[in-house]
Amino acid sequence: MEKSQSNKMKTILITGSTDGIGKVTALKLAKEGHVILLHGRNQNKLDHVITEIQELTGNDTVNGIVADLSDFNQIKKMIDLLRDKVSTIDVLINNAGVFKSNILHNKNGLDMRLAVNYFAPYILTNGVLPLLEASPNARVVNLSSAAQAPVSFDVLQGNQVVSEQNAYAQSKLALTMWSFYFAQQHKNINTIAVNPGSLLNTKMVQEAYGQHWDSVDKGATILFNIALSDDYETKSGQYFDNDLGSFNRAHQEAYNAEKIQQLISETERIIKTL
Ligand SMILES: NC(=O)c1ccc[n+]([C@@H]2O[C@H](COP(=O)([O-])OP(=O)(O)OC[C@H]3O[C@@H](n4cnc5c(N)ncnc54)[C@H](OP(=O)(O)O)[C@@H]3O)[C@@H](O)[C@H]2O)c1
Repeated sequence: MEKSQSNKMKTILITGSTDGIGKVTALKLAKEGHVILLHGRNQNKLDHVITEIQELTGNDTVNGIVADLSDFNQIKKMIDLLRDKVSTIDVLINNAGVFKSNILHNKNGLDMRLAVNYFAPYILTNGVLPLLEASPNARVVNLSSAAQAPVSFDVLQGNQVVSEQNAYAQSKLALTMWSFYFAQQHKNINTIAVNPGSLLNTKMVQEAYGQHWDSVDKGATILFNIALSDDYETKSGQYFDNDLGSFNRAHQEAYNAEKIQQLISETERIIKTL
């Protein structure tokens, strides 16, 4: 069920909104009249989704931005474009993600899952920080997962190849640890990590498992609510587990201040080399 929210129209950026949970979330938010910035890696697919959502909702503020998030130069261009285009981002949903990939490493030699699921939202969010800080009530929603595994620096650096499942789970714990850190650092930005529900019926899940347990709508509804509902106003720095329908404990390492500090230091070191 979609929850009550304050009426003000918001500017909302949803990464990876050309498919799956991101697309359905964008549709729901566009129906409410918010200014929606869609994002995808493929211009044609993005253009089709913009037209589709505009037609379905009558919301002509729906717009889009292209960037392959595995390419950090494209993320930098996306940040520059956003800083030119909008003065405020009220809600940033870091939704884009990858599980299976034909290409194992990006141009910088980083594992695709770590690059797209962790480094990209880290760089993007920090890059648009002034736009988030310009909002009186900014929210960042980070797409975590029930799959979370301790982060190995060899994997983070792209020096060790592990299974797709393990790399994915490491990327999601890294994202969750950074999400908690970011919330601490930016008390004026409500930052929540969320597992949208396991094995929801999306392209990623079909490719990875060939089966699903639940609907895309389940994930989109919780993202809609966390983006807008007053219920989440005081929940910054927490992890919402939509398998349970409540806030819950993330992986224990997400509460280890020393591990978080090490992760952030190593992440910053790697980013400087890119
Ligand atoms: N579905 C689940 O059960 C589930 C469970 C837990 C967590 N999640 C998380 O939820 C998020 C959404 O997943 P989903 O299931 O909706 O997957 P999906 O249907 O495969 O959608 C993923 C979205 O991310 C985009 N994307 C992928 N790689 C990209 C890249 N390199 N650059 C830019 N965009 C890229 C895709 O673009 P294209 O349209 O071009 O492919 C698509 O828009 C992910 O972070 C995922 O890890 C999903």
